[in-house]
Amino acid sequence: MDSKRLLPMIGHVRGKRSAVTCQLKCDNQCLGEVCNTTSNDYFRDIASAAVSRRAVLGGTAGAVALFGASQFDAAAAPLGENALAARRGGGKAPKRTPLTFDAISPVDFKVDEFNVPEGYTWKPIIRWGDPLFADSPAFDPKKQTAKAARKQFGYNNDYTEIIEIPGSEGRRAVMFVNHEYTNENIMFPPSMSIEQQREVGMINHGLTVVELERKNSNSPYKYVQGGKLNRRIVIDTPYRVTGPAAGSDLLKTKADPSGTKVLGTLGNCSGGLTPWGTLLSGEENYHSYFVGTGETPTDKRYGITNKETVRGWEHSDPRFDTRNEGFENESNRFGWIVEVDPFDPKAAPRKHTSMGRFKHEGANVIIGEDGHVVAYSGDDEKFDYLYKFVSKRKYRKNDRRHNMTLLEEGDLYVAKFTGNSPVEEIDGKATPLSDGEFDGTGRWLPLVENGRSMVEGMSVEEVLVFTRIAADKLGATKMDRCEDVEPSLKTGRVYVACTNNSDRGKEGKEGANEANPRTQNRDGHVIEIDELGSQSSTRFAWSLLLVCGDPATDENTYFAGYPREHVSPISCPDNLAFDSVGNLWISTDGAPDGIGYNDGLFKVTLSGNDRGRVQQFLSVPRDAETCGPIIRDQDRSVFVSVQHPGEDGTWEKPNSYFPDYNNTLPRPAVVQVYKKPRRGRGRR
Ligand code: FEO
Ligand code: CA
Ligand code: CA
Repeated sequence: MDSKRLLPMIGHVRGKRSAVTCQLKCDNQCLGEVCNTTSNDYFRDIASAAVSRRAVLGGTAGAVALFGASQFDAAAAPLGENALAARRGGGKAPKRTPLTFDAISPVDFKVDEFNVPEGYTWKPIIRWGDPLFADSPAFDPKKQTAKAARKQFGYNNDYTEIIEIPGSEGRRAVMFVNHEYTNENIMFPPSMSIEQQREVGMINHGLTVVELERKNSNSPYKYVQGGKLNRRIVIDTPYRVTGPAAGSDLLKTKADPSGTKVLGTLGNCSGGLTPWGTLLSGEENYHSYFVGTGETPTDKRYGITNKETVRGWEHSDPRFDTRNEGFENESNRFGWIVEVDPFDPKAAPRKHTSMGRFKHEGANVIIGEDGHVVAYSGDDEKFDYLYKFVSKRKYRKNDRRHNMTLLEEGDLYVAKFTGNSPVEEIDGKATPLSDGEFDGTGRWLPLVENGRSMVEGMSVEEVLVFTRIAADKLGATKMDRCEDVEPSLKTGRVYVACTNNSDRGKEGKEGANEANPRTQNRDGHVIEIDELGSQSSTRFAWSLLLVCGDPATDENTYFAGYPREHVSPISCPDNLAFDSVGNLWISTDGAPDGIGYNDGLFKVTLSGNDRGRVQQFLSVPRDAETCGPIIRDQDRSVFVSVQHPGEDGTWEKPNSYFPDYNNTLPRPAVVQVYKKPRRGRGRR
């Protein structure tokens, strides 16, 4: 391999992003051929289902009150009551959010600053390379080794979650972080050999569990070097495969004839906190680490080519070239939802085959009113699908051991959306419709139900390992890249961030539909789903909550009816979170390429007169993406992972100096943003 291969290449491929960035990030998915070449007839039953969401819901926007507030406000809920209670470690939720702020102005995409609202300040909690264990070496960017990296915080923090350690009275917590990918062009000195870059880069992927502590709930967190729960999960960490496809021939390799034990996790993007206090992580762009035939239907559908990969791992480990004898199935062992118990550093993480295999952005779980747990997950690629899993067994209060098994068995569905407006009105520009809304109904089409395949000609194992192909056969709706999909624990409503789709409507590609109403969708949209009847129902109503963009220049942007002249411009919605009172928070990835501003974090009010009001809370530095938002009202704090700051720069000429701003290289970091104490008073 050319030793300069990982260094910047000439030209720009998408918007303001450099070619090397695109290749490292997702292997040029926006340039390459779309993986989904099927021609499903998505909206064919429009006429028969011309029902408005409002009508379905009984006339009011909030008619589906699936949960009594008390279920989620239980003051003394032990770990296991629900995800919010798990995060709080049993502590009380505030009645009103103290996170009040005036929206910040958007920041030009060339500015290398981290901006927060008046009255707030910020501090990095942990940065790439920070030592995790008592014997970890200090970070030395000029002398990086794989041995040192195993004991340090990994690169490109994405999904992040913080759970208070029960019984610590709010002073100790455990933090879980995904390390999605590496930016070799800015991580390593050019003098470092390509082999060494590869070795160190590999270990900088994976996951981290690290303890946090603070003096009291009024002071910001610090991470604990040498904390008992601290853990790095890397490319050679063994995972246990669970569910119906565990042990399948489709998962067996020379190194693992059992098909049940996989080494490592890849492309870990977003994730979710379960009600029983474990973490889920989505294996997203795993395809970019593998060489294959590039010709089989499965390689094609999952984007695996016969070309040398950008990082060249296949030169170090034969399993990354699936043309090698005995490793034909290795890539089938990635693309899953993984579950990690942050409280047991020795427990093997699990890969759940019951939740299907695709480019999982993440997964988020809610306990349905019937006790079955429901998990939502998006496949983040242009024209791919939205999925839902319903557990076979029911959630049991205070039975963590039982609840830990809930994602191992259940039903899997894929979404089909139907619009209720005449197709002639869908003009590809999101011009307002005569009925006032982009909305309609939908069905969850069963892929696996009651342990049986619902897809003709495919076994359960085949459906779960090649879920994209199974979903093609059912005629699921091709979406504009579903990123985070998150149910509100207050209302049961589900929010889907469709980040963008530059190919919609291009020659030979599917055009706009009511659920994805813009061709060459640059700025993305957010869909709001109401499950009809119960959380595990197979029918739903939907409408677009937001049609994103800059309202100053795009009159077809839409903010749930809120006056567009009073919202912050927002583009490329990605990760979602809720505060304790039920406002939606959205972090973005791609705004520089869309509306020309740095990415950020935005609060969206969902109820009352201000429904649809979008307010920008923070803005991340140059070239960075905002990830893992955690909204902790009780701490008057918001946490974000700042991923790939300065990624379009080089080692010699950095684009960013975040977070230390001392003229050294940029370091991805998890940041706490908190309200400054008022003069003469404590923070509370
Ligand atoms: Fe890694 Fe879908 O963003
Ligand atoms: Ca409509
Ligand atoms: Ca993402």
